[in-house]
Amino acid sequence: MSELALTRLADYQPPDFTTLSHVLRVVLDDGEAEIHHQQRFVRQGASNAALVLDGEALTVQSLAIDGVALESTAWQYDGKQLIITDVPDAFALKSVVHVDADGNKELSGLYRSNGIYCTQCEAQGFRRISFALDRPDVLATYDVRIEADQARCPVLLSNGDLIDQGMLDNGRHYAHWHDPHPKPSYLFAVVAGDLAEAQRSVTTPHGNELDLCIYTEAAFIEQTDFAMDSLVHAIEWDETRFDLDYDLTRFNIVAISDFNMGAMENKSLNVFNTRFVLGDTATATDQDFQGIESVIGHEYFHNWTGNRITCRDWFQLSLKEGLTVFRDQEFSADRGEAALERIANVNMLRRVQFAEDAGPLAHPVQPQAYAAIDNFYTATVYEKGAEIIRMYHTIIGEEAFQAGMRLYVQRHDGQAVRIEDFAACMSEASGFPFDGDFFRWYTHQGTPRVVFSSHYDEASRCLTLRAEQQTEKVKPQAALVIPVVFSLLNKAGEVYRFSDEAASDLWVLEEAVEERVIHDIDGEWLPVWLHGFSAPIYYDYGYQHADLAHIVAHADDGFARVEAMQTLYRRLFNAAYQQDEATYQTLISATSAVMGNALASDARSAGEKALLLSIPATASLINALATPWDMDAVLGAEIRLRHDLSSMLAEQADAYLQQDDTSTDSAYSAADAQIRQLRAVLLAHLAEADSGQWRARFTGAYEQARNMSERMAALHALNVRHDAAREAALADFAERFADYPLVLDKYYALQASAKDEGALARINALSEREGFVISNPNRFRALVGAFAQNLTLFHAPDGSGYRFVIGQIRRIVTLNPQLAARMLNTFAVAAQLDSSRQGLMTGELNSLLEVDGISTDVREVIERILGGL
Ligand code: BES
Ligand code: ZN
Repeated sequence: MSELALTRLADYQPPDFTTLSHVLRVVLDDGEAEIHHQQRFVRQGASNAALVLDGEALTVQSLAIDGVALESTAWQYDGKQLIITDVPDAFALKSVVHVDADGNKELSGLYRSNGIYCTQCEAQGFRRISFALDRPDVLATYDVRIEADQARCPVLLSNGDLIDQGMLDNGRHYAHWHDPHPKPSYLFAVVAGDLAEAQRSVTTPHGNELDLCIYTEAAFIEQTDFAMDSLVHAIEWDETRFDLDYDLTRFNIVAISDFNMGAMENKSLNVFNTRFVLGDTATATDQDFQGIESVIGHEYFHNWTGNRITCRDWFQLSLKEGLTVFRDQEFSADRGEAALERIANVNMLRRVQFAEDAGPLAHPVQPQAYAAIDNFYTATVYEKGAEIIRMYHTIIGEEAFQAGMRLYVQRHDGQAVRIEDFAACMSEASGFPFDGDFFRWYTHQGTPRVVFSSHYDEASRCLTLRAEQQTEKVKPQAALVIPVVFSLLNKAGEVYRFSDEAASDLWVLEEAVEERVIHDIDGEWLPVWLHGFSAPIYYDYGYQHADLAHIVAHADDGFARVEAMQTLYRRLFNAAYQQDEATYQTLISATSAVMGNALASDARSAGEKALLLSIPATASLINALATPWDMDAVLGAEIRLRHDLSSMLAEQADAYLQQDDTSTDSAYSAADAQIRQLRAVLLAHLAEADSGQWRARFTGAYEQARNMSERMAALHALNVRHDAAREAALADFAERFADYPLVLDKYYALQASAKDEGALARINALSEREGFVISNPNRFRALVGAFAQNLTLFHAPDGSGYRFVIGQIRRIVTLNPQLAARMLNTFAVAAQLDSSRQGLMTGELNSLLEVDGISTDVREVIERILGGL
């Protein structure tokens, strides 16, 4: 590989100095900032160590130690580090630097978005605002005074409590904030601008009186009610389920249009992408509402899991992210139907994380080395990290898990710790050794596979279950601790009762091969493996097709039912892919019968029916195929499977849709969302089956839509073919929502997922039109991100799809390297493709490397992808 400098976990050293306090004066004027910064340092390491501070894109105006200006010979700044030799053991450093907020399009550090100054410091953005020990194990208090023009920036916000505010000369004013909780620099935030405010005062279940504020541009402020409700629910939930209370009296959220990520948990001043705050029924789908609730929860929950207890170094990122994703998943599960939430999480895990773990970007949840930390905010650190937390919970149960959490908080509050410290608390609280073999889940990459089998012995009335771990994909190879929750189902559809009357049991695998014998048991029982997807693994068991249908009908775990259905879809897809006609024909009728029964069932919720009737994303179906993938066969199989299944379901789907729609349209509700989701899935089946007869129906559904969910369902149906009906609806949609950027993103994404021959030309034209602001990450992701998920166009055999995506990335690659690097992840599939497509991808990636001023982030991703070929 190359000259990229790697940071390694093994090289961790505590800092030579620590910072006790920061006093900042942030002077904002006309897109620029002057940062007056006083910080107190104390030496912790060697007596001769120089002070080395991080600093990027800063223009130094002055430096002084203990009030004495530094000679220019006393310090060096190379644009990355400020080195001051000869400093005392305890001292105050005063620096004044200049920062160009308007010139900052990277959206890291201090920048301006639609006239609003804001900051993004995680992971290494603080150094783009001022000099500091910009690492998470240096915790200090922050005292921040912001000054700006009162008319342009009436609202001035930072972390902690507002202790003073007032007027200055020349129409300027100031606000003075103090955060009493020591924190690392990545949690620092400043926001200033002409923001409207939504405010709510609440008394929590524990009796805390809190002021909650949401800020955004005035034009959007009416769309913040749902986010405010979500925040209230999140605060209540963390008190009742985790016994964790908020630790200040005011909590602020700011919603910003230009934001690289979804949201950021800055202490008491969360900054959000507008996408995860704004929403009413006219502009947001039910899925958008669910996203808002979960992200608001996630960032709020970080207050304990991340802020009060933070990471020693960035290799510990999953300590806060994995745990907080687990917490937000549990929050959503408790707010809606738990099994459905779990299925949605697992679908995403398989589509994104399993794919990542199988390719050149695979890495352990606790990585060993990185060039750019921003590249390690991955599905593995987040989603697999959350799965590991879920395994602790599954193995020891809610009560012991909460005891472990209490110990973790009590022991480590105010500290920057390692994943090992969390594991140790869970071990101590439960008696289960998570620091031992279990810990390999963090240090090994790859998705393990378990092969299950069973044998019933008539004579001894014993059922023997066997589990064999196949660790060849896990590096380095080793058996893992794998919790398997399972049940047994008989031919009559009854569930076996274990000795404690439980309907399911927990089997914790610890060896490469294990057997478990169930004595004195009648007849033949069918094991139903991995209730709730109790471990993030691939697994096999020789189910007959009919067994799967039986599980869909009778298992007492919602996840297991949908899983069995998905296995049927996967088998059908494989048969189509391999052109195994006999299997395909047997399976197609079996599968469509199961679909029909599911739709007709009285026993299943509408939400579960929607999932049972959803064919898994092709991106997750292909993961299990042998490589190299035959992409043309993949796309052919996808089309055939969808068309055949939808055609067989169409009549029943149509009849169902003709019945009364019982969903209401007052506000978002989980129950109504389920009904709409099912109706949308059925409409999509009609669209796949359609030979023209239902186009008018889709147009009607579009015109009569009562809310954005219905509108999008109709547009998705219309989007399946390119005709006048589609064009008319899309044109109407773009015009109707011309003033709603977040809705226009839906428009761009719809356009980018069309599959007809003229689609690429239209998408290209959209990327050039004026309203498409490429520097806005939401716009970019809507068009280019959706295109990269459009397998048909992206993998076009002539390379036009790859060329389009790289061409768009080239437009932002030096402007916003973080976003460019993220977008490049879609090229990680190169290793699994045929040599022709691999060659085309390689050519495009190499051409991007030629661009002048390419960043470390981008270089690291490209080199890892090319290195994996
Ligand atoms: N701490 C992150 C935000 C972040 C990520 C900042 C990477 C800087 C670099 C935040 O808590 C987060 O995880 N946000 C997620 C959404 C969440 C619900 C998983 C995001 O922004 O995608
Ligand atoms: Zn997070």
